[in-house]
Amino acid sequence: MKRREFLLSGGAAMGAAGLGGLAFASNSSDQELVVQSASYMFRDQPTQGMVSLSPDAPPPVLFGRQGEAMRLTVKNTLSDYTSMHWHGMRIRNDMDGVPYLTQMPLGQNESFTYEFTPPDAGTYWYHPHCMTMEQMAHGLTGVMVIAEPEDVGFDSEQVINLRDFRLDETGAFLPAYTERGAARAGTFGNVQTANWHQHPVYDHAAGSLVRLRLLNSDTTRIYKLHLTDGNAQVIAWDGHPVTAELPMPSADDPLLLGPGQRVDFAVAMPDGEGAQVDLVAKLPGQPLRTMASLRSVGQSASRDLRELKPLPKNPVALPDLSNAQVHEFVFGWTPEGELPDNGLCGSLGYNFWSINRVPWSGDASSDVGPLATLELGKSYVLRLRNESPNLHPIHLHGLVFVPLRSNLRELPPLVTDTMLLLKDEVVEIGLVADNPGDWAFHCHVIEHQKTGLTGFLRVV
Ligand code: C2O
Ligand code: CU
Ligand code: CU
Repeated sequence: MKRREFLLSGGAAMGAAGLGGLAFASNSSDQELVVQSASYMFRDQPTQGMVSLSPDAPPPVLFGRQGEAMRLTVKNTLSDYTSMHWHGMRIRNDMDGVPYLTQMPLGQNESFTYEFTPPDAGTYWYHPHCMTMEQMAHGLTGVMVIAEPEDVGFDSEQVINLRDFRLDETGAFLPAYTERGAARAGTFGNVQTANWHQHPVYDHAAGSLVRLRLLNSDTTRIYKLHLTDGNAQVIAWDGHPVTAELPMPSADDPLLLGPGQRVDFAVAMPDGEGAQVDLVAKLPGQPLRTMASLRSVGQSASRDLRELKPLPKNPVALPDLSNAQVHEFVFGWTPEGELPDNGLCGSLGYNFWSINRVPWSGDASSDVGPLATLELGKSYVLRLRNESPNLHPIHLHGLVFVPLRSNLRELPPLVTDTMLLLKDEVVEIGLVADNPGDWAFHCHVIEHQKTGLTGFLRVV
């Protein structure tokens, strides 16, 4: 077996092929995930009170394969409640992990077994949907890789989970949110990490083809990113293969990656020992910052991006726009009012946001009914109107959609689960309501989600 075939033949080998020091379980399609408190060295003192799936490392990359069943038992050892959501995956509603909407929150020492068969290949992720602010801000976000059934031609893969932490000089956590932040763009972290490291460098064979899977799992930050080596291309967005060539982001025209969003790049590693491809972020008021680097090692493998075939399409039904009913959703402020009972999943203590004037705080626990009821199998256009000056990555569970048009910009033809709404933007998206159930629909800036910008769509 050639090295490349070996690397592609099994998860364990992929772990060795540069998953960035992330803990890795070779049989991740059937395992127990123990939600626990952890500590980690970001600064001189270990940061206590982190939340992960092991005592001292980031949540692992979970591997599955398109069309093959997965069985993930989540056990909660925290004293707070939790639940786990599999972001972007079109799975059964009762496995979606949204407290009160699809399951009850898990108390201390309770477990829940999530069983599903991923219908789509691509880059997805997991995070809690109860005590969401606290647990995500303290570390509990991980990547899920759902492999295509066949080899798609890369020599190796690199997973990068971008996110901030909010720490003081000693490494102790600062409060994850502020009232001021929640009412505006959110509260930003001050330690930017890739896989919990500051500027990790990952070795890949010179001249080889690397699939770079990038996730923004931050609770707030919209990353502005580019790669320094031009020899790369965007091959998938929010899990799904792109159907048209997207321009490569540059320092002047960076890629906007909102919380919850993923992008896959095909990267042709430069020739020459030690040559690097840098993933660079533009952070407000700071010089450009390299978040992570890929470094070439060894003799050139002399491969070329043109050797790659387009990724196989996922089985996504496209909407019939001539017969689509239109529903409008307005994302805006709300007068501060009485907070509804938030149940067991934590409240930030205030409401600032609403969808269609209805604030829904907490983690989808409320007596508020669905924002809309969609008929199973029918096509719909959802008109998303941002009435606020802030940006909102609007995420829909359980279904995927195609962005159709915007009042402000050209939209690339994508299949996605999260639409980043710009200031004053109105975007229409189209979808087929082909997965029955109650599907959470919210902003992925967690402070917005938790202070009113949440609701759900019902598909029956
Ligand atoms: Cu990442 Cu409700 O989702
Ligand atoms: Cu989701
Ligand atoms: Cu928002």
